[in-house]
Amino acid sequence: MTNCLLIGGGIIGLSLAYELSRRGLSVTVIEQGEWGGQASSAAAGMLAPLKEFQTVGPLLDLGMESLWLYPQWVAELEAATGGDVQLCLDGLLTVAMNDEEAEALWAKYCWQKAAGYHVRWLTGGEVLEVEPLLTAKAVAAIHSPQEGHINNRLLLGALVTACKKQGVKLVSGCVVTGLVQQAGSVTGAETTAGTFHADHTVITSGAWAGIMLNWLGISIPVCPVRGQIAAVSSAGIPLRTVVFGTTGYLTPKRDGRIIIGATEDEAGFQKDVTLGGLASVCSGVLPYVPSLQTAAFLEAWAGLRPATADGKPLLGPVPGWNGLSIAGGHFRNGILLSPVTAKRMADWIIKNRLEPLQPFAPGRFFAVS
Ligand code: GLY
Repeated sequence: MTNCLLIGGGIIGLSLAYELSRRGLSVTVIEQGEWGGQASSAAAGMLAPLKEFQTVGPLLDLGMESLWLYPQWVAELEAATGGDVQLCLDGLLTVAMNDEEAEALWAKYCWQKAAGYHVRWLTGGEVLEVEPLLTAKAVAAIHSPQEGHINNRLLLGALVTACKKQGVKLVSGCVVTGLVQQAGSVTGAETTAGTFHADHTVITSGAWAGIMLNWLGISIPVCPVRGQIAAVSSAGIPLRTVVFGTTGYLTPKRDGRIIIGATEDEAGFQKDVTLGGLASVCSGVLPYVPSLQTAAFLEAWAGLRPATADGKPLLGPVPGWNGLSIAGGHFRNGILLSPVTAKRMADWIIKNRLEPLQPFAPGRFFAVS
C-alpha cells in the first residue's frame, strides 16, 4: 500500500499526514476550508491529561503517552521548519475554591497518586506560592508539574510547513461530496476539485466525520459541541501558570495573551460567539484571578469539538469497508492527542498493528442503517 488520502486538514489530519509521509507513504490531505480552521485553531492548546480524564484506563494512558511524545515531536517539527511552537510543560493547577470542591479534588489526587502519577497536593498558601495572582480564596489545588500547553496556531503552521517540505499534497478549499465505493472497499473521495483515488482513505474531519460515514449507511455518533473562548491581554497581569477551576480555565501564552475558556454548548454546526456564552466564560474565570478585571479584551471565537457518546476517540478501521479508517472524536483533547494518534494510526495503516487501538475501535458504535 503506497498512497493515502486524508479527509480533513485539522491537527489530526496534518499530524497523521506528516507521520505517514515520514514513513514513506505518498499522502494527500483535502480540506474544505483553511488548514486547522476549525476546532484545531479554536483550542486553547492545553496538554493536560491528568486534568481532563477522570479515571485510570486506556484514555488516560493514551493522553499520557501523547504528553510524553510531545517534546521529541515538537523538537523534530521545529528542526524541520525553523519555527518555535511555544511548548510549555511547566505545570498547571486545578484549584478548589471551597471545602466541597476540595473534597472532590482530594479524591482525584488520591487515585492519581496511587496510580503513580506525579502530582502534588497544595493547600491555600502553597497554591499562592505557585501562582501569586490566584485569589486568596483558593483553599487547595492539585499541582501537576509536568503538564502544560502549546501555541496550537503556531503548531498548525509548523505542521503545514513540515507536510509541504515532506512532499505531502495539500489541497484546501476542496469540499468532499462522496466516497468512492467499489465492492465493499472505499478507494478515495469525490470532491469539488475532482476525484482522488487512494489505497487507504482516512476520515479526519472532526465534527463532520459522522456526515461522511452516513454516506455509507453507517451511523457513528460524532456531535459538535461548541466551545466559546476568549483572549485578553496579559499586560500588567503576569499570570504564569495554567489554572483550571470548576467554572473555567486560564492559559497564559508566551505571545502576550491569556486564553480564557470555555463553554460546552450544543448549537449544531453554528460557530457564533453569543453574549451569554462570552459572559459565562468571563464570569467563570474572574473569581480565580480577580486582577483580570482590568485586562484588555482582545477577541473571542468559537470552535466545534467532535464529541462521541462515550467520550473516547474513534481510531481505526471502519468495519465493513476495506481501505477506510477514521481518526476522530477527540472532543476536548485533539491538540493533546495528535502525536499519539498519528503514531498509532500510522502503525495501523502501515504495519497492520491494531491491538493498541482496540479501546478506541469505531466498531463499538457500529450500526448500519
Ligand atoms: N481543551 C479544553 C476545551 O476543549 O475547552
